[in-house]
Amino acid sequence: MNLSDTPAQLLDGKALSERILNSLKEKVEAKHNAGMPAPGLATILVGNDPASHIYVRNKRRACEKVGITNIHHELDEHVGQAALLKLIQELNDSPEVHGILVQLPLPKNCDYNENEVLAAIDPAKDADGFHPFNQGALMQGRKAPVPCTPKGIMCLLDECGLDLKGRHAVVVGRSNIVGKPISLLLLERHLTVTICHSRTRDLAAEVNRADIVVAAVGVAELVRGDWIKPGAVVLDVGINRNEEGKLVGDVEFRAAAQRAAWITPVPGGVGPMTIAMLLQNTFEAYNA
Ligand code: GUN
Repeated sequence: MNLSDTPAQLLDGKALSERILNSLKEKVEAKHNAGMPAPGLATILVGNDPASHIYVRNKRRACEKVGITNIHHELDEHVGQAALLKLIQELNDSPEVHGILVQLPLPKNCDYNENEVLAAIDPAKDADGFHPFNQGALMQGRKAPVPCTPKGIMCLLDECGLDLKGRHAVVVGRSNIVGKPISLLLLERHLTVTICHSRTRDLAAEVNRADIVVAAVGVAELVRGDWIKPGAVVLDVGINRNEEGKLVGDVEFRAAAQRAAWITPVPGGVGPMTIAMLLQNTFEAYNA
């Protein structure tokens, strides 16, 4: 990508995630050299969603890279909730497993209840930070596993070296996985936070007020470049295909980069950070 005509500095999630993974690899090796067992991450994939298969494959490859043992289970979409809960219980009880991840979304056509499934994971092994106990801890500002994408966004934001206190963040999207938890993390760091969503009346005006924009709605280039306040930091969580089949974020990148001070690319921005944070959460659970 030729960025010579863009004034924004790129927030390179690929490079940062590689540094984090290399550092984790050294820590895992040190444990091995001290005669300790390897950390283990269990991944559970239910059904045939092609995007989920790619995400889980990338997570498993990262485990291999850093020396975390991956215990992988692929279940037929019709296996049903009782069998899934039984598997989670076995993994909760296994001393080789320190982190457990159930890839979302679960298939829509069976009896799965995502909230019940996530609540069945031992909160101490909750590598995704999706258990209600851990989500409650996040809301109260207590230490607990934090969802991986929001945790990765905060690492990227810290790369800018800005004093965040009192700045205005606008989060576009209100999912349990990204929008709500990133809003809490930003609040914890003393930003003023506005959460926008599909019913927000004047999204352009809200975004235009933001020093920090987090776009996590899953709509290709919904956030237009000319909405961005000059000098803002733009963090784009979206991974979408546009009408020409090109991979694009939730932000109109090229135009936004003309105004932003810092911006994440898609791909290579927030995405790789999610995986690095998953392995970090697993290593933290192993050390706990
Ligand atoms: N689906 C989309 N993002 C995620 C994630 O971070 N973790 C899991 N388990 N499923 C997801």
